[in-house]
Amino acid sequence: MSKKVLLVGDGAVGSNFANDLLQTTQVDELVICDIAKDRAVGDSLDLEDVTCFTGHTNIYAGEYGDAADADVVVITAGVPRKPGESRLDLVQKNVGILKSIVDPIVKSGFSGVFVVSANPVDILTTLTQKLSGFPKNRVLGTGTSLDSARLRVEISNRLNLPVEKINAWVLGEHGDTSFENFSGANADGKRLLDYPQITPETLDEIEGIVRQKGSEIIAKKGATYYGVAMMLAKIVAAILENQDLVLPLSAPINGEYGIAEELYLGTLCIVNGSGISHVLELELSDDEKQKMLASAAKMSETLAQVQL
Ligand code: 2OP
Repeated sequence: MSKKVLLVGDGAVGSNFANDLLQTTQVDELVICDIAKDRAVGDSLDLEDVTCFTGHTNIYAGEYGDAADADVVVITAGVPRKPGESRLDLVQKNVGILKSIVDPIVKSGFSGVFVVSANPVDILTTLTQKLSGFPKNRVLGTGTSLDSARLRVEISNRLNLPVEKINAWVLGEHGDTSFENFSGANADGKRLLDYPQITPETLDEIEGIVRQKGSEIIAKKGATYYGVAMMLAKIVAAILENQDLVLPLSAPINGEYGIAEELYLGTLCIVNGSGISHVLELELSDDEKQKMLASAAKMSETLAQVQL
């Protein structure tokens, strides 16, 4: 079956994602939409050259209407965070942009999966589902997948172990109220908390470093894109190839963790051709449970202020 992806937003995240996707999986059609039409055309031509090495993909600059027969629509479009700005400051700016994207895509007859990575991602994912009226499993966001990658890298550096041997998740909001699920983390098959060099102080330090990493990168080079772009490529490949990939994403919460609000929040889930096929409820410590509820409350408070 032919595989088609439509990308909305050809900035640094979008174009790196397009390149990573071509390297990661076989796609038949890749449509690039951007308000800067020339950039989308230029990127399509540039990426076309990559297909010499990755296999045939029809890549072109298109319109939202081209989503009609797409399997996945990836939304990276939005105003990015400026140095010092929180992800939540962006909300109202990006809601307007989101509406102008989602409405015409739904009108096109699109019946695939929306994947959102614009910030604040949990809010914009929740709103994409509301605006589209899609079944909740067919809308998801990159959530805390990038934070979790950062956590694994940090633990790997500290324990001097290859990153592939680290299993650890950041959960909750992709933002200031995110938290580490240290109680469930393991490294080289052993509980992270059982390593003698892991003390309460080191855990605080790790949490701080991981939470600040995005801001640190933005302060130094203006934007972050390689990590999230690769994450997007993995997520889209899981959908196109029906892979049952386990990742912490912005997923639709339906009473898990005692959360009463209906919203999307970073939690472990299984992604396949149907979008989010299962939300996995992890065992959390009491402290982590409180952090999850606080994160949900913060998201709900922000959502209540959004004008659709
Ligand atoms: C990041 O954490 C900017 O949210 C983006 O890299």
